Amino acid sequence: MSAPPSRFLTLNGTHTTLLLELSDNKAPIWRYWGERLPDGTVPTCSLDSERAVPSFSLDTNVPLTIFPTFGVGWYGAPALLAHRDGQAFAQDFTRCDITWVRPSEAVLMSLIDDVAQIKIEISLNLDPKSDTLTCKTSLTNLGDQPLDVHWLAAACLLIPADAKTIRSYTGRHNHEFDLQIDALSHATWQRENRRGLTSHDCVPGAVICVAETTCHTGPAYGAQLAWSGNHAARVDHHQDGSYYWQLGEWLAPGEVRLRQDQSLISPELLATFSPNGLNGIAQNFHTAIRARMTWPGGSMKPRPVHLNTWEGVYFGLDQAALMEMASGAAELGAERFVLDDGWFHARRNDQAGLGDWWVDTDVFPEGLTPLANHVVGLGMEFGLWVEPEMVNPNSDLFRAHPDWALQIAGRPLLTARNQLVQDLANPAVFAYLLKHVGALLDALPISYLKWDHNRDLTTAGSGGLPAYRGQVLAAYRLFDAIRQRWPDVEIEACAGGGGRIDAGIIQHTHRFWTSDCIDAVSRVSIQSGFLQFFPPELMGSHIGTSPAHSTGRAQSMDFRGGVALGGHFGIELDPRHLRLSEKEKVKSWVELYKSLRDTLHIRQTWQGDAGDGLHWQAQGNSADFVLSAFRTRPNPDRYPPKIALPFADPRARYSITWLAPNSGAQLNDSNFHRATATTPTTISGAWLARSGLALPLMMGEDAVVLKLTAVP
Ligand code: GLA
Repeated sequence: MSAPPSRFLTLNGTHTTLLLELSDNKAPIWRYWGERLPDGTVPTCSLDSERAVPSFSLDTNVPLTIFPTFGVGWYGAPALLAHRDGQAFAQDFTRCDITWVRPSEAVLMSLIDDVAQIKIEISLNLDPKSDTLTCKTSLTNLGDQPLDVHWLAAACLLIPADAKTIRSYTGRHNHEFDLQIDALSHATWQRENRRGLTSHDCVPGAVICVAETTCHTGPAYGAQLAWSGNHAARVDHHQDGSYYWQLGEWLAPGEVRLRQDQSLISPELLATFSPNGLNGIAQNFHTAIRARMTWPGGSMKPRPVHLNTWEGVYFGLDQAALMEMASGAAELGAERFVLDDGWFHARRNDQAGLGDWWVDTDVFPEGLTPLANHVVGLGMEFGLWVEPEMVNPNSDLFRAHPDWALQIAGRPLLTARNQLVQDLANPAVFAYLLKHVGALLDALPISYLKWDHNRDLTTAGSGGLPAYRGQVLAAYRLFDAIRQRWPDVEIEACAGGGGRIDAGIIQHTHRFWTSDCIDAVSRVSIQSGFLQFFPPELMGSHIGTSPAHSTGRAQSMDFRGGVALGGHFGIELDPRHLRLSEKEKVKSWVELYKSLRDTLHIRQTWQGDAGDGLHWQAQGNSADFVLSAFRTRPNPDRYPPKIALPFADPRARYSITWLAPNSGAQLNDSNFHRATATTPTTISGAWLARSGLALPLMMGEDAVVLKLTAVP
């Protein structure tokens, strides 16, 4: 008997291939996702015939498809859970149409189930530059009875059988991106977030590794959901040894009921494969995220040095003091002055005022114009903190419109930080916010908004129905409405630091406030996790005070400066309280950042761990990069470890410039460091890649920064 004719769909990236087997009346079958296959590798006959029929099995082969469904032969986890009042609980496809959007790169698949009367449309777009697949799935109700939906995966990804571990991130306020490594097994791996925003404790992304995967080598698979609300992810074992990974929006009971011809569109999922380990995944994601950004003027300008007032003065605002602070900031070299919380009506502490978005004239009798003009006059941009989604029960707004807050009749209004969440999907709330934030943008020379969201959602009901999804979509619309009318304004996404860091919100904003924890030791791991998914130019990183307010740990200015340097750099302290020597130090870090930001940003980032407590990060390209090494606890060994830089060009020789410590003091301990610090010396790329660079002695909490440049 001859094998049935085969039809395959191939998407090719630069280093990746995705292969599906097609048939006219079934969902496309997963055949491969991994390293780029040479041309001509596509099988010539259907792979259905590859599988033997085991005992106690259906006589029909039911393989893993791009969209597995429940109840008609597939026993695994389905990509859809839906029903019509108990009917149409099982789904299967009777038609599959393929439309190419760009040959070999982008395709739209339309799957019809004539029995359950649904349509699924899956769009797959493999960008060759980033090797990142952008997937989106929509479900349309073709029947005349409403369809209740509990789960719609944004995508279902095939992961090969040699996958061993999954690296996801947990955490809390002040402790974001806490790495958690779980072994994959026959048990389902699952993470769910029901906090109504991206959350501190469940990052909507992860990386799957095989046994040999390292920072620099080996296959790795990454995925992240572009969504700022509830989300769920699961990895299931498939009975042929492989795994499949689904990510999507977590839907509350009753949240989605589709009437005839209505659709539910999933958030986008970014998924990437790299043969180059964790750094390969990070670099692919960085390229993909950069392509999703929209900047005022069309492209990113060099990231300006911030001074943010929060940890410097908290709620203790006073016009004259802030003007002095601004002058101090300008003297340090700051380029953007951000007035944080506390400037609006009755906002003397965190118990009142949210919602009343007009300037408090008790504190600023002439409004914010004198301060904003002073800032602009000093050559800095003026930025302002807002938290539009929130309302304090103690506010004029709440007193006038208590029904505007998300709530469930008969349930208590559960406050967090004394605040409630406004129902943004209510057009009156939306119009109110646009009007009041707009009035500020019209009246003041504001170039930047720090947009906060200082609590999770609960009792998130509107008109008796769950409002989580509508809230996220309305927030995106509000960002867009503001940006459309004030296109030159940049926006920072903040939610108690890193509670809203995701690939969805960044399409509407320009920077993340990574964490309220500015302690440099904590920041090393927080920033390392951030960089797995997002590029450094979006990572708010500041020099804070010592001791750090979030941990009480005291750290040298050089350590704080070194750790902040690689991101979107800023200062978060009161310059009026700096001693002269401290001012000089901050200034030198500002100057160093300004001189290096073109190398630090928009290029590549590599990270590595060289031994107990030593983490390094390199930014630039393989011919010219800044290398920062951070020690977060004392070296357990007598000698500092060497760090191998596998990305160095083995044919090149590199000049070494030690940038910090710039006094050379700590570089006096070895001939090598003394020599490389005082005389032009070169070192071979092959040596750096294989043997590694010797580091100087470092203290328990310490940073060194150097620049390596290939010489002609
Ligand atoms: C959040 C932010 C801080 C600061 C405060 C103001 O916690 O993360 O940076 O803006 O709100 O209340």
